Amino acid sequence: MTDTQRSAHAPAHTAVPLRVALIIGSVRKDRFGPVPARWISRQLGARPDLEVETVDLAEYELPLVLNGNDPGEPLPEPVKALGERLQRADAFVVVTPVYNRSYPASLKTVIDWFHEEWTAKPVGFVSYGGMTGGVQAVEHLRGVFAEFNTVSPREAVLFPNFWEVFDHDGRPVEAEAVSGVTEVFLDQLLWWARALRRARAESPFPGQGEP
Ligand SMILES: Cc1cc2nc3c(=O)[nH]c(=O)nc-3n(C[C@H](O)[C@H](O)[C@H](O)COP(=O)(O)O)c2cc1C
Repeated sequence: MTDTQRSAHAPAHTAVPLRVALIIGSVRKDRFGPVPARWISRQLGARPDLEVETVDLAEYELPLVLNGNDPGEPLPEPVKALGERLQRADAFVVVTPVYNRSYPASLKTVIDWFHEEWTAKPVGFVSYGGMTGGVQAVEHLRGVFAEFNTVSPREAVLFPNFWEVFDHDGRPVEAEAVSGVTEVFLDQLLWWARALRRARAESPFPGQGEP
């Protein structure tokens, strides 16, 4: 088969760019989160066939009080708006700080509001903090996201002592060291994103709707 014939037979979904939602997890005043978020967004933007959409949780007033058990209860407007964006995504990159040895409550709120929006998609992590670079937040998030049958790349991009790491242009000072792990991280995330998008298109993920 020639390349032309092969592309003519390619399933339609392979022609559509992968959509990556980049979630800024911290919402506090004077937060640092947008700095690593902008940087990883640029790394993603350098990859072909991708659409990167930044989802800044600070722009959504998600209620802490979740809906009750009535399936007819309407979703609050910010939840509806955010849910539509998450549903469209083929993969997520969560940028998280470490708060008290874990991830911030703003992230738990967004995670708990949604379900199938996350299901059977890859979730990758970029974290920053003191000595540990936020690895505790990442490991806790891996456990939580497992609830939705997500997968996450083994690699995560960690920024220990983050206040020393970025220059005035928001680039890591030790660019080479960071780019090695980042490239592997992105390769793994996008491999999963392509594989799972194909699988979701072929058949619905089993077991949905069961408690
Ligand atoms: C409530 C809170 C708890 C924190 N706990 C930790 C911690 O356990 N370990 C750590 O290295 N840094 C900790 N920090 C420092 C944060 O890593 C630092 O403030 C960082 O800027 C937070 O990200 P943000 O600016 O995007 O909110 C904590 C900060 C806050 C606000």
